[in-house]
Amino acid sequence: MIYAGILAGGKGTRMGNVPMPKQFLLLNEKPIIVHTVEKFLLNNKLNKIIIATPKEWVNHTKDVLKKYKIDLPKVEITEGGADRNGTIMAIVEHIKQHHGLTPEDILVTHDAVRPFLTHRIIEQNIELGLQHTAVDTVIEAIDTIVESTGGDYISSIPVRGHMYQGQTPQTFNIEKLQELYGKLTDDEKEILTDACKIFAIKGEKVKLLRGEIFNIKVTTPYDLKVANAILQGSIDK
Ligand code: CTP
Repeated sequence: MIYAGILAGGKGTRMGNVPMPKQFLLLNEKPIIVHTVEKFLLNNKLNKIIIATPKEWVNHTKDVLKKYKIDLPKVEITEGGADRNGTIMAIVEHIKQHHGLTPEDILVTHDAVRPFLTHRIIEQNIELGLQHTAVDTVIEAIDTIVESTGGDYISSIPVRGHMYQGQTPQTFNIEKLQELYGKLTDDEKEILTDACKIFAIKGEKVKLLRGEIFNIKVTTPYDLKVANAILQGSIDK
């Protein structure tokens, strides 16, 4: 089975003082999460789309899906986890409980707050996800990346041509993800905020595929303005 996991379990603290987590804020009169789920509904290779939200927002999510007529049998809702990887693993647990797991099953995980992903990006995640145990969507780094361990002085400047910026989707063989996550210590779980990093540090290959500059993550009020500009066409895709 091919699953999509929409990660909507965050509280959006960097968005500032807003009445609800940013995934429910409106973008052109439609909640961000609806824009995102609609992109996944257009792909008929996906068997199920599982959305994970904070516990107290599960009912609101159900109402929102109903309002926008996307409360379909294909779309399921579950409770997220304490951190982003915890949410991914909550989705894995939901799949195990409700559908069972086979060694071929893959999960296309995506930030609910990246509403501009394309059909091409979803298709390639599925195609490469069936061939590799882990896949990451990235764009080439535009600015030079400067590393500083203490924040005051430069520790190193990696070669820009080797640097990429991580986006989502990230796609995983579910059994492999479960196996690797299960081996992490609590300390490792705290550091490994990116699920692909779990594969990378355990020596597993992670296949890269190209994202898009406009596949932005809505994190701050500024991003919300940019997202509105993209939707209204004042910034070209
Ligand atoms: N996310 C999640 N479960 C968590 C934390 C984050 O599913 N426990 C999701 C968010 O809902 C978001 C995505 O991961 O779609 C990217 O994370 P981020 O932008 O950091 O979201 P928040 O944690 O909501 O924001 P902030 O860090 O500003 O609080």
